[in-house]
Amino acid sequence: ETTQVAIIGAGPAGLTLALLLHQAGIESIILENRTRAYVESRVRAGLLEQNTVDLFHELSVADRLKQEGLLHKGVYFSFDGQRQRIPFDELTGGRCITIYGQQEVVKDLIAACLSRGIDIRFESEAFLLEGLETHAPSVIYVENNVQQQLSAQFIAGCDGFHGISRKALPNKLYSSFIKEYPFSWLGILANAKPSSEELIYSYTERGFALHSLRSESVSRLYLQVENNDSVENWPDDRIWEELSKRLHTDGFVLNTGTIFEKTITPMRSFMIDHMQYGRLFLAGDAAHIVPPTGGKGLNLAVADIRWMADAFIDFFQHNREEKLNNYSTNALRRIWRAQDFSNFMTYLFHKQAAHGSFEYHLQKSKFDYIRLSKAYATSIAENYVGLKEV
Ligand code: FAD
Ligand code: DHB
Repeated sequence: ETTQVAIIGAGPAGLTLALLLHQAGIESIILENRTRAYVESRVRAGLLEQNTVDLFHELSVADRLKQEGLLHKGVYFSFDGQRQRIPFDELTGGRCITIYGQQEVVKDLIAACLSRGIDIRFESEAFLLEGLETHAPSVIYVENNVQQQLSAQFIAGCDGFHGISRKALPNKLYSSFIKEYPFSWLGILANAKPSSEELIYSYTERGFALHSLRSESVSRLYLQVENNDSVENWPDDRIWEELSKRLHTDGFVLNTGTIFEKTITPMRSFMIDHMQYGRLFLAGDAAHIVPPTGGKGLNLAVADIRWMADAFIDFFQHNREEKLNNYSTNALRRIWRAQDFSNFMTYLFHKQAAHGSFEYHLQKSKFDYIRLSKAYATSIAENYVGLKEV
C-alpha cells in the first residue's frame, strides 16, 4: 500500500499534521497502536497557547473548543502563601491561554479526520522503518496480527516518547540531552467546582501544588511528590488535605469532590538536536519532553507540526526542498525556548532544597522580582502564553 505521507501516532502531533496536509490536498495514512477509545480517554495536558488555538481555528476543528474552552487572561503565582496575579493579556498585547483537555482536543481532531476521509488505522503498531535514505521509505506494522507494509514519500514520526521513530535516527546524527528531576507530579481530576477561576501555581515548604480546571464542575489539581511514590500512598483525604495546605492563602477555600482520576508522572527534560534523517521527520514527544510546569508539551508538538506541514506542502506543491532541509533548525528555536521556560518554572515552584537554603532564597527573590519589575513579569507572561514567532 502507498500514500504520500505515512504518519505514525494519532496524538495531537500526528492528527494535526494529517489535517493540515489534507487541507492542502495531500494524502496521508495514520498508524496508531492503541484503540480509538484509549487515545480519546488518555488524560494529560490542558493548557492551549494562543498559537495552538489559532491553528485549530484555521483547520475548522474548533467548534467545541470555542464553546467549552475556558479563556484565561491571567494566572496566579503563589510563594509561601503570598499570591500575585500575572495579567498576561495586559502584558502581551492581548494574548491569552485556553483551558481545554488534551483528550477533548484528540476527540475533536479524530472526528475531523474521519469526517474528511483521512484514514486512521487504530490498533496498528509500527515496528520497523525501511528505506529512509531513499525516496520511497516504508513503515512495517502489525494490524490484527498480520504484518503489513505502508510505503510513502515521507514518514512523520509522531509516536511520542516511547515510539520507534527516534530510535531509527542514526546515533551519530544528533546529540541528546536529558535531565531527570528529583520529584514527580501526582495529578487528579475531581468533580469539584474550581476553587479559583484562574490557575494557581504555588510553592510552599511542603512542596509545589497547581490548581487547574477543566470546566465549571471539574477541577484538575497536581501535587509535587517524591519519585517512586505511588498512588496507593495517596488516599483521597490525604490529597485534599495536602492541596489545601499547599494552596492556602488568606480567604482561600478549596472545594473538594469525588476524585475520578489519579496518576503519578515523572518529570524530565529531554531532547535531541536533530529531528530528521532522510525521509523521516520527527515531531512532538518523539523528539522532546519538557517538564509539565508551564504546560508546553502539547503546544510544542503542534508548533513542530506547523513547520513540518509547511515543508511537506512546499515540496509537494512546488517541488522545493529548502524547508525540508531547514525543518530541524526552525523547530528547534521554539523547542529550546520552551525547554528553558519549563525548566525555569519547574525550579521556581518546586521544593528542591531545604526551605530557607540558598536555593530557596533564589526562588523567593525571583518571585519578589516579578512584583518589582514589569519587564520581568512581561518576560514570564510572553513565554507563558507562547511567543508568536520564535
Ligand atoms: P503523544 O500524545 O504521546 O502521541 C503519540 C501517539 O503515538 C500515541 O497515541 C501512541 O499510542 C502512538 N504510538 C506510539 N508508538 C507507536 C507505534 N510504534 N506505532 C503506532 N503508534 C504508536 N503536557 C502538558 O503540557 N501538561 C501536562 O499536564 C501534561 N501531562 C502529561 C501527563 C502524561 C502522563 C504524559 C505522558 C504527558 C503529559 N504532557 C503534559 C505532555 C503532553 O501530553 C504531550 O507533550 C503531548 O501528548 C505530545 O503529543 P504527541 O502527539 O507528540 O505525542
Ligand atoms: C495544566 C497542566 C500544566 O502542566 C500546567 O502548567 C497548567 C495546566 C492542566 O492540566 O490543566
